[in-house]
Amino acid sequence: MRTIETLGDLRGKRVLVRSDFNVPLDGQTITDDGRIRAALPTLSTLVNAGAKVIVMAHLGRPKGEVDPRYSLAPVAVRLGELLGAPVTLAADVVGPSAHEAVAALGEGEVVLLENVRFDPRETSKDDAERQSLANELADLADAYVSDGFGVVHRKQASVYDIAQILPSAAGSLVFKEIDSLRKATDNPERPYTVILGGAKVADKLGVIANLLNKADILLIGGGMGFTFLKAQGKEIGNSLLDADQLETVKGFLATAAEKGVELVLPVDVIVAPEFDKDATPTVVSVDEIPADQMGMDLGPESRALFAEKIAASKTVVWNGPMGVFEFPAFAEGTKVVARALSEADAFTIVGGGDSAAAVRILGFDEDTFSHISTGGGASLEFLEGKELPGIAVLED
Ligand code: 3PG
Repeated sequence: MRTIETLGDLRGKRVLVRSDFNVPLDGQTITDDGRIRAALPTLSTLVNAGAKVIVMAHLGRPKGEVDPRYSLAPVAVRLGELLGAPVTLAADVVGPSAHEAVAALGEGEVVLLENVRFDPRETSKDDAERQSLANELADLADAYVSDGFGVVHRKQASVYDIAQILPSAAGSLVFKEIDSLRKATDNPERPYTVILGGAKVADKLGVIANLLNKADILLIGGGMGFTFLKAQGKEIGNSLLDADQLETVKGFLATAAEKGVELVLPVDVIVAPEFDKDATPTVVSVDEIPADQMGMDLGPESRALFAEKIAASKTVVWNGPMGVFEFPAFAEGTKVVARALSEADAFTIVGGGDSAAAVRILGFDEDTFSHISTGGGASLEFLEGKELPGIAVLED
């Protein structure tokens, strides 16, 4: 991939940067600013080089329409605080406000364009439509830097098409992410353990299929774990079940046994009568899940088992919470896994999205992990072995 240095002297040049500022919001309040902080090294490099920095990003999925709920206004404020200088938010993506804000930029100043997904061409499947937006974005700038790792798996105008028009390079976040993920996947020090959780099995099918050829140990928890337990013939009560994937999951269990991959499932779980933060938690064996209760977290034996496997590993990748960690009564499984990773004598990656947010919300020191990815879907597609369009387009 081309580095920012290959773009030459950037003083006075207009540099368009794609960042991933898709942060969780509670109304106007950003509840986890990890993605904004992760963007700072590249933005500071450009600011210090005297570039006129134009940042573009998306928030949520506004479906190509202007929707104030998805405005980047709270992000502009936070970014300004973190950079220590105000960041102007243009009121549109490539319209008069964006042009005016860019024209007014001085060296080392930063402007943020409004949510790029307010323009329907950004996510269009039609190449010509995406290219027309990319051309209009290119009119605003002299060079392009791709630093939104969380979107590099998307073939979208601000990620993919623009890089074919302007002189382009990868930012330092994208470099760091790709380096870490390659380290874990190309030739991992073994045992290589992957922990998967989260609600949906369907989101992780490709990853599991690929990991059954690569990992030594697969630990499966969270909501998706119940489909595995069901595939083993267990009764799971009202727990999450992805019935459409049952046969595929049975196939995974058989493949793991054939290939000698240790596929570890919970042995006990915490159940509750309803999905509520105040619901009464009860520990049960996975052989005794009551018909009228739902699984909410790993039980104590499962936590100890997962922690023991992690402690014995040399490379660990974790993607997806182990339970409903947003509710304190059901956060222990996710906490124990996070702690085991932070204490392991291993190369450890927390793979984006909910698990990265969980690590921060639960108060872990980010420096105790080798790498916390900013990309949920992107890191999963990487682990799946897929080519990421936003990376391929930056290769020499
Ligand atoms: C993410 O949150 O994983 C990225 O920002 C990508 O968002 P998307 O799934 O809406 O493309």
